[in-house]
Amino acid sequence: MAALRFSANLSWLFPELLGLPARLRAAGSSGFEAVEVAWPYAEPPEVLARAAREAGLRLVLINTPPGDQEKGEMGLGAVPGRQAAFRQGLEQAVRYAKALGCPRIHLMAGRVPQGADRRAVKAEMEIVFLENLRHAAGVLAQEDLVGLLEPINTRITDPQYFLDTPQQAAAILQKVGRPNLQLQMDIFHWQIMDGNLTGNIREFLPIVGHVQVAQVPGRGEPSSPGELNFPYLFQLLEDEGYKGFVGCEYQPQGEGWPWGRELWRDWTGAVFSLSAEMPRPPSPYRRHSRGLELATFILG
Ligand SMILES: *[C@@H]1O[C@H](CO)[C@@H](O)[C@H](O)[C@H]1NC(C)=O
Repeated sequence: MAALRFSANLSWLFPELLGLPARLRAAGSSGFEAVEVAWPYAEPPEVLARAAREAGLRLVLINTPPGDQEKGEMGLGAVPGRQAAFRQGLEQAVRYAKALGCPRIHLMAGRVPQGADRRAVKAEMEIVFLENLRHAAGVLAQEDLVGLLEPINTRITDPQYFLDTPQQAAAILQKVGRPNLQLQMDIFHWQIMDGNLTGNIREFLPIVGHVQVAQVPGRGEPSSPGELNFPYLFQLLEDEGYKGFVGCEYQPQGEGWPWGRELWRDWTGAVFSLSAEMPRPPSPYRRHSRGLELATFILG
């Protein structure tokens, strides 16, 4: 049984640092081996590639560009009339992925157009998405890249988002039927939409290419207060044989490093803490915290 591997989401972590190179350095010196970033496009890929190399990190996920954010766009994959822009964005993402050695691209679905009724446009948007995904699958296959579909919750975070449940995403993936298109499981969104995490994780894990985590409802780190039991969920992912990365996509709560102070209370925190100069936690934690044992195992 392989230990989970974690990736620091640099769009969310180290918010006190400006610019991706600085965040890459911070992630590297915090003990991460991998990072992900939603939109790396503000900096030339060569600059990022060098910063990642120097920090000893590999990049495991980027997103397609959001489109025109001032007009409220949040991805273009399923947006009628924006097919050309989606394809351009895909080209840009592929260029970055290649330069950065990043194997996965999240193909953002986008939002239901403002003023439109979701039920009225759903069929049309799905047709657009399917066409764009077939195109993307071909482009990505040439470069040996994987495309990911991520359902985002429409109850709280983004009420206009088109793709909002794993069931919907899995049905679309099945219609496209290309092995290099997979599901991105953000446990935060899944809990808010449907709960039933044990059932849904087991059901969909075979088509999952990337996982992301945050506590619910505050979207803090897994050790922050909330309704998700992360030691259980991490164990479940391991038991089910998940081999990919777990992206740390949360707003760090409290001061400083989320895992810098009360590390041993926290499964993920433990993973990173033991690689740094933090003292080993007292034995009761070691006995009771499955994560800590795992961390010790990872870091040997
Ligand atoms: C939980 O999820 C599984 C797999 O998706 C499904 O078969 C089951 O019906 C769900 N249970 C509930 C109570 O919704």
